[in-house]
Amino acid sequence: MNFNRYFNDISENYLFAEVANRVAAYTKANPAKKVLKLGIGDVTLPLVPEVVKALRAAVDEMSEKATFRGYGPYEGYDFLREAISQYYKNAGVNLATDEIFVSDGAKSDLGNILDIFAKENTVLVPDPVYPVYVDTNVMAGRKVIFAQATEANGFLPMPDYSVHADIIYMCSPNNPTGAAYTVAQLKEWVDYANKEGAVILYDAAYECFITEKDAARSVFCVDGARTCAIEFCSLSKTAGFTGTRCGYTVIPRELVKDGVSANKMWLRRQSTKFNGVPYIVQRGAAAVFSEKGQKEIRENIAYYQRNAKTIADGMDELGIWYTGGKNSPYIWLKCPDGMKSWEFFDLLLNEAQVVGTPGAGFGVNGEGYFRLTAFGSKEVTEEAVKRIKQLLSK
Ligand code: MLT
Repeated sequence: MNFNRYFNDISENYLFAEVANRVAAYTKANPAKKVLKLGIGDVTLPLVPEVVKALRAAVDEMSEKATFRGYGPYEGYDFLREAISQYYKNAGVNLATDEIFVSDGAKSDLGNILDIFAKENTVLVPDPVYPVYVDTNVMAGRKVIFAQATEANGFLPMPDYSVHADIIYMCSPNNPTGAAYTVAQLKEWVDYANKEGAVILYDAAYECFITEKDAARSVFCVDGARTCAIEFCSLSKTAGFTGTRCGYTVIPRELVKDGVSANKMWLRRQSTKFNGVPYIVQRGAAAVFSEKGQKEIRENIAYYQRNAKTIADGMDELGIWYTGGKNSPYIWLKCPDGMKSWEFFDLLLNEAQVVGTPGAGFGVNGEGYFRLTAFGSKEVTEEAVKRIKQLLSK
């Protein structure tokens, strides 16, 4: 037996596991200190009433012989796929229900989708970005090249025709920087992908945080995307489903290469390796897309947006450069005094008991930056900003 040797090429721990380990070690050594966590983007508000009502009703259905359900469709129940399709329609995007696959979240599908692609593909990933894209490809032995996202290009790299790529990852609004592509900018990527015969794997997990009008809500707002893109989305950040688990992946019928349909391959893959998201959870997810559900989740999103403003105001007062917070729940800031990301992480943890995520964990270009999440409670966010201000204005 031989283990997968490509695991030697990734760091020992996943970024957020590494942060959690370091925080656990600190807490063990300093049990009396109250640690405030603005690291991993985990929501803190409970599920909204409309979702809870739907979950409860589904539990009742499962407890009656007449309405009990066993295995569901691999690709998700039609009631949820239709609700998602209607949500896209409201944003001006037409999708057939059989182009929508219900999943247990964007992270799983972003990794699992690689099953349908050959190992020989060249993968283009923006740097910095959500570490799952790089780690999952390196684990599979694929070659990864990077698109440089820097302050100079507003953390929005554009296509370079002198470089060929087969699989292109995009995350917009971007995790961690919060930068969001406009439809016109995305059109350039779609044109590039179609010309190169590449696929865009588009992570839209933060689309519900978009406030700026010209930022694209979906890659499918762009003409030509149906022949080159797959979109991943999640209810984790949209509706507080980080622990409940539900998302969806959109694969258009036109995404075909050499007569082979990506949509059909994905269905084949899912029906072989996945038994679907629990019926109860899918009922809760469908409630997110109801009129009342949308109103309720918008209130929660507004709460997190106010937290983002609290953090941004604190950075303004300290004169610290930052971006994000407008189309995303993350503030991406420059570490003060030229500190490195993990140095600043240690300083905040040891001196202020505030946890953030080191920018270096998102890629080489993230070195010297730091990410704070707006998903904490109002009280924790305010207290954390107060502590950071006290520490850094000393
Ligand atoms: C993040 O903090 O970037 C995300 O919550 C991590 C994840 O979704 O896996």
